Order: sequence, then C-alpha cells, then structure tokens
Amino acid sequence: MLGRKGFAVLAVILIVALLAGCTQQPASKEQSKPAEQPKADKIKIGVVAPLTGDVATFGQSTKNAIELARDQLNAKGGLLGKQVELVFEDDKNDPNETAAAVKKLISQDKVVAIVGSVASKCTLAGAPIAQENKIPMITPTSTNEKVTPIGEYISRACFIDPFQGKVMAKFAGENLKAKAAAMLYDVSNDYSKGLAENFKAAFEAAGGKVVESQTYGKGDQDFHAQLTKIKPTKPDVIFLPDYYNTVGLIAKQVREVGIKSVLLGGDGWDSEDLVKIGGDAVEGGYFSNHYSVEQKNPEAVDFIKAYKDKYGKEPDALAALGYDAVTMLFDAIRRAGKTDGPAVKDAINATKNFKAVSGSITLDANRNPIKSAVVVTIAKGKQKFVTQVNP
Ligand code: PHE
Repeated sequence: MLGRKGFAVLAVILIVALLAGCTQQPASKEQSKPAEQPKADKIKIGVVAPLTGDVATFGQSTKNAIELARDQLNAKGGLLGKQVELVFEDDKNDPNETAAAVKKLISQDKVVAIVGSVASKCTLAGAPIAQENKIPMITPTSTNEKVTPIGEYISRACFIDPFQGKVMAKFAGENLKAKAAAMLYDVSNDYSKGLAENFKAAFEAAGGKVVESQTYGKGDQDFHAQLTKIKPTKPDVIFLPDYYNTVGLIAKQVREVGIKSVLLGGDGWDSEDLVKIGGDAVEGGYFSNHYSVEQKNPEAVDFIKAYKDKYGKEPDALAALGYDAVTMLFDAIRRAGKTDGPAVKDAINATKNFKAVSGSITLDANRNPIKSAVVVTIAKGKQKFVTQVNP
C-alpha cells in the first residue's frame, strides 16, 4: 500500500518522466535518466579486430566500415525496431587477446553475435569460445580453411585459402608463364603457412615446380639468410603469403640482394601501408584480393561513395568485407526475427544470394561463401585491377 508520501514520490517521478519525454530542452543528468533507452532496447554486437599493433590498418578499415554500416542501419530505424550498438575490442593481432576479447564480449557485454577477427590465427583462437557459448561469429576476412570447421556458429564473408592459393598459382602459370616458383613464409602464422601450402599444391598440379621453400618466424625482420638460398635457384616468381608489414620488409631485401623475380602474394598485402614500407620493391608485384575499388556492382559503388564521404579515402578489401560481414549479420537477424544465438545462427547459415559489396554471398554447407577473387598489381605505387577469377 502506498502512503501519502508514496503518492507524492510517484507523482514527482511521473512529472519528471513526462517532462523529460516531452521537452526539447536538455534535461539535467538526474532528470534525463528515465528518458534514456534501457539497455535491452538495443541490439549489441561485438567486433574484434586488430585496431592497434603490427597490422593496425586491417583493424582500422574494418572498424570504419562497420561503423558506417551501423550508422546507415540506425538512421533507417535499426533492426527489429531497435538500435544497434557496437562493442569494439582490440586484439592487436594476438590470438591470446582474441580469446580474451571474445570471452569478455560474451560474458560481460552480453553481445548477441560477434564480427571478427581479421587474421586467421586470431579467429582460430576466438571461435571455439563463441561456438561453445552458442554465439554466432562471422569473420569478415579469415581465409584459413580450418576456421569454419570449428562449428556451426562460425561462418565467414570471404573465400578460403585453397581457392586463393589456386588463383595465384593459375595466374602465375597462365598469365605470367612462370615455371619455377620460390616461397618464403611465416611458419608461425596459420594464414601464411596454409596459403603457401595451397599455392604449392596448385602450382605443381598445373605442371610448375616450387624450386625453393624458405620460412621464418613471428616478428622476424632479417630475411637475408633465406634469400641467399633462394637467389641461386633463379625462380620466375616468389610467393610471399604474409601481411603487408612483413611483405614490405621482405620485398626490399629481395631487391637488395639482387633478385629480379616477380613478387606474388595474397590478400594480406592489402594495405595503404604496403607501398609506404616496401617502396619501389613492391612495384610490379601481384596479389589476389576479395574486391577492387574499381568494381562496378551497385553495392560496391554505393559503399565506396559513402565510405569516401565519411572517411576521405577509398575503402580497401578489409573495409569491404567488414561491411559485408556485419550487413550479412543484420540481414540474418532480420530474417530470424529475434536475437537468440541458435535462431541467428540458423539464419546466417541460410544466407543465400546476399548482395554484398564484394559480390553475392551464398554460404555452402561448410559456412563458406563461394566467391570470385580479383588479382591486382602495384603500378606507380597504386593498386590496379588486373583480372577477376571465378571459382
Ligand atoms: N586472409 C587473412 C587471414 O586470414 C586476413 C586478411 C584478409 C588480410 C584480407 C588482408 C585482407 O589471415
């Protein structure tokens, strides 16, 4: 039962709530509280990416694009009548950090799904935790084939490395008429090692030969010993399946020791910093990628324009795929009509002909999209589209 005092308190609360709801004037902190949307009225999505560290451009592009997608969605009324809130976690391209970030997003932030991470070795560490907790996780960019077999809650917006390795092997053999290839890669990085193996298998199946294979470890900066072994084998091409920061360093040393071979790589080359680090040494190199800024599908045209307007520069593939992964998730939540893990997971896994920036996405039985790749070259310090390769 409410006494007089109780009624008075209730009346005050009511009036304050009404005022806060009706007036345009900024209310004081105390008064504004009742008008704020309660937490449950937002859909929380976690994002894990390397926002700092050795491949920070990957994380920054991913974050930019995902924030753009959120703004566009929320401006149109959000999802299931609610606004979407993003919680970003920086994994610094370190698998231990990814695992901790995924745990935190699930247990503390109570996100309904996660987009991330970028590097395969990181996603491989975070995904088992999402799977165990029945929280759907879509990686925009992790191409290593072992990622999605972790479980049915894990999917991706990108093609996988057995395809990417084939793309570059075919390009080397058919377009560059290469017969002898050398490889230099990071054995401690699942992506680098996996892509090297895939390239070798495809190149040799097509009649070429990998004449020398050299490796290094995490954080190595001096590759002269390995390059001294590669030089006398006179390869037509050298395959460097690593991220832009290391590739830039290797490329410089390749030219320093007088090797003239054409340099080839994969999606990990994609960064505005590749040319800043590698300079002239990466000129004339070729790499496979998920998208090109010269692409003309309407989704890409709209995205490129919106991204440029907001950030003043062209989006790279990390941005395109970050956007694709999060919009694919929005689409799945919309179709699921609710946000509980199993329902969203089922909707994600049923993704079909989703019109994405990087091309149409249909997930196969292993939760991998079947998509085409592009090959780009570095010409006068800029990326230039060379060809598209279909699966
Ligand atoms: N494919 C890389 C990996 O799996 C990540 C990456 C994707 C980097 C796209 C650059 C561009 O580790």
